[in-house]
Amino acid sequence: MATEYITYKGMLFPLLDYSPETISYLQSEFQVWDDDVFNVTYPKSGTNWMLEILSLIRCDGDPSWTRSVLNWDRAPWIESNNGLEVALKYPPPRLLSSHMPLQFFPRSFQGSRAKVIYTLRSPKDVVTSYYHFTHIMHAFKDHGPLDAFLQDFLSGNVPYGSWFDHVAGWLGLRGQDNFFYITYEELQQDLRGSIQRISHFLGKELSEQQISSVVENASFQTMRRNKMCNFSEVPDKYMDHSKGQLLRKGVSGDWKNLLSEEQSRRIDTVYQEWMQGLGITFPWD
Ligand code: PPS
Repeated sequence: MATEYITYKGMLFPLLDYSPETISYLQSEFQVWDDDVFNVTYPKSGTNWMLEILSLIRCDGDPSWTRSVLNWDRAPWIESNNGLEVALKYPPPRLLSSHMPLQFFPRSFQGSRAKVIYTLRSPKDVVTSYYHFTHIMHAFKDHGPLDAFLQDFLSGNVPYGSWFDHVAGWLGLRGQDNFFYITYEELQQDLRGSIQRISHFLGKELSEQQISSVVENASFQTMRRNKMCNFSEVPDKYMDHSKGQLLRKGVSGDWKNLLSEEQSRRIDTVYQEWMQGLGITFPWD
């Protein structure tokens, strides 16, 4: 199976626009700057949503930037070949995105004052969103029926590896001044309050009106209409637009429409093995 993906130190990465050389450069040589802000997630956890929120906070709620510049240029995915190129030309202060697990993140992050906002989502909704997405993006191989995909997900045999390892690794940084984490579910339950907390972490205090504009422009409906963030501009060679879209449902609990009780229990078992030691309660627990 590994031959159908790029492999770097035993971890799979998508087929298109990724290379072991770029990932190795990113890990060992990429220079993190103190004023960098990183939007970090495991795939399908709300990356593009957070990207929109961070872009809008940066502009004090003014949507001109989010309406005119593609999101992968506003906050490039640093591990892809193209994203790294954009990041290297990005004038400071940079806004950067990454799905990298902590162990492959740029080493120069250690000891820097760069900020990381880590967004995580219920693994059952992640696996649901991920499964649908593998049928839309050409970067993913066909993992076969749902049960086979679930098995690959649980064993970390999917691009970006194990959700459990990713989450446990990054959440090991909690308590560090330059690290902030939030769940997709919290964004859904209280977007306004979440935006206030994120702004505060970034050292920005927005007015009530500016926050309202962030809320409105980062809503599911607005983002779905915005070509700059809804992936409709992704070239056909990367995405089969006839099969679905990035902003698919945007709800919590959709896993109940996909996973059987037995599949759900299999996730619970692996979840408990990995997460009980963390000592954190999540909205989906
Ligand atoms: S990716 O491909 O890994 O970068 O995908 P990512 O952006 O991390 O996750 C995609 C899911 O996030 C949902 N989404 C949103 N939900 C609610 N509100 C807003 N504004 C929003 N924007 C994106 C998107 O619909 C995907 O979830 P699913 O469950 O597939 O709908």
